[in-house]
Amino acid sequence: MRTQVGIVGAGPAGLLLSHLLHLRGIDSVVLEARSREYVEQRVRAGVLEQGTVDVLNEAGVGERMSAEGLPHHGIELRYGGAGHRIPFERLVPGRAITVYGQQEVVKDLIARRLADGGKILFDVPDVVPHSLEADPYLTFQGERLDCDIIAGCDGFHGVCRPSIPDGVLSIFQRDYPFAWLGILAQVPPSAEELIYSRGDRGFALHSMRSPEISRFYLQVPPDASLDDWPDERIWAELRARLETVPGFALTEGPIISRDLSAMRSFVAEPMRYGRLYLAGDAAHIVPPTGAKGLNLAVADVRVLTEALAGLYATGSTELLDAYSATCLKRVWRAQHFSWWMTTLLHTFDTDDPYGRRLQTSHLDYVTSSEAAATTLAENYVGLPFDFGAPRD
Ligand code: FAD
Ligand code: DHB
Repeated sequence: MRTQVGIVGAGPAGLLLSHLLHLRGIDSVVLEARSREYVEQRVRAGVLEQGTVDVLNEAGVGERMSAEGLPHHGIELRYGGAGHRIPFERLVPGRAITVYGQQEVVKDLIARRLADGGKILFDVPDVVPHSLEADPYLTFQGERLDCDIIAGCDGFHGVCRPSIPDGVLSIFQRDYPFAWLGILAQVPPSAEELIYSRGDRGFALHSMRSPEISRFYLQVPPDASLDDWPDERIWAELRARLETVPGFALTEGPIISRDLSAMRSFVAEPMRYGRLYLAGDAAHIVPPTGAKGLNLAVADVRVLTEALAGLYATGSTELLDAYSATCLKRVWRAQHFSWWMTTLLHTFDTDDPYGRRLQTSHLDYVTSSEAAATTLAENYVGLPFDFGAPRD
């Protein structure tokens, strides 16, 4: 088999790349380790930046997102017995976020690729990348896929990044002393907007997927197991961490899915080796507090698409050679923002009153200074795609 771009991984990065390349007349094949059902049901992100929404709409895959996604013009930071709204409409006029589940984005992209005759091979768990310096190819299940370029879109635990020889990549990493327990519950949201709540018992987040489905997260110990968290304990903890302002009552209901996520910051540089280009979680991870991971994956594949379109139109590798540096500017901004939001809102060492005072002081600043609130808002809704480009 032969294609122009061999894509490993059918997450948001791999699927969107395949679709954007198709719109530019570039052929690709996507190889995915898991089943279609699995990738369509995996519950993860929910917050799409303005730029991500724009890319999906411009690429003609935003129809259901526009109909079912929930535009949000602010978030609440809750701490010290009060809620403080960060109003995007005033701080970053014209920019907002849309709450729309990652698995819905994945479903929309798969449906569109298949309708366009795109090739996605599911249940291919044994992909191996070869010959990355020149004439690259992928092997799987006794088959061989030759390609001009390999796109490693296979997430943090994928096979592409580890196939780069030792010593090539510089790794930058930070682990956090907690994890997130996430649930989906069949209950209407308890508030109209997202609530990021910091308290002595740990962080909690109120989010949603639709007028009927809520999404919640709890900071839990890094070694927590789902078995430790029966439904009653989850609701009791959510109540204790969210019902901290007068008049707020959590609506409870059946929990329909639950998941645990490690909290990690990670960057591999450069995001390229020879003919292999890494995109999305394969190259970088952020803790989810800033809601940036999926959005970064979309930004990466947007840059990669332009670079590959340049290659096939003119033979020039200029944009491809700049791919890693171009992406890393945005990646590092999101790294900082995600680390900062995580540090601002989670309970670290309860024996560190100095650290706790600093956190409160910073929260007071962000919720009282227009300048500090604007910094949060413009990062949260997402920086423009020309972020980092020299200004006139
Ligand atoms: P993935 O989604 O991980 O996709 C990689 C794909 O490759 C998978 O389908 C996997 O099965 C496949 N694969 C792996 N190994 C192989 C192999 N060897 N061969 C073939 N295929 C392989 N981001 C946001 O922007 N906003 C949010 O609100 C947000 N909230 C989050 C909440 C949680 C709890 C979590 C865990 C993450 C959140 N994120 C958020 C991050 C976001 O989910 C990820 O950044 C996003 O999934 C990255 O997409 P990706 O395509 O790069 O990788
Ligand atoms: C959601 C996830 C996040 O990581 C976040 O910061 C906000 C919302 C969500 O899944 O809804």
